Amino acid sequence: MSSISRRTFICGSAAVAVLGAVPAVAASGVKTLANGKTEVSLLTNTALGSVGGVVELDIKKYGGKVAVVRTSKSDSGFSVFKLSCPHEGAIVKQSASGWVCPPPRGHGAEFALNGALKLGPANSALKAIKFTATTKAVTIA
Ligand code: FES
Repeated sequence: MSSISRRTFICGSAAVAVLGAVPAVAASGVKTLANGKTEVSLLTNTALGSVGGVVELDIKKYGGKVAVVRTSKSDSGFSVFKLSCPHEGAIVKQSASGWVCPPPRGHGAEFALNGALKLGPANSALKAIKFTATTKAVTIA
């Protein structure tokens, strides 16, 4: 199992920034482990086999919707983040180039596919969540 490094995140972020978004699908094969972590199987979530692939799932301890995005082909090439907007908490929706915070509850903030802030009024990225990854699964802390 390997942890994502800052360098891996930045390199993966650059790769995703130039990709078109692949529509998100609901995650399947999700397990809550005895230690409280959430395991997302790569075998059953084939969308995560391709860079730009996205799955969404609900994790109660993170207040609801979370996205897992494949950012590079490396074993740790993923981003995991909350889908609640850092501005006022509306749930962001996937757009052609990443994520957008839609009205009426949202105020139009835009984020890259990896969750990085592109346009306010939000003033930070979508909140990253720690994870580890192997060739078989992404395990969310
Ligand atoms: S809640 Fe997302 S831009 Fe305001």
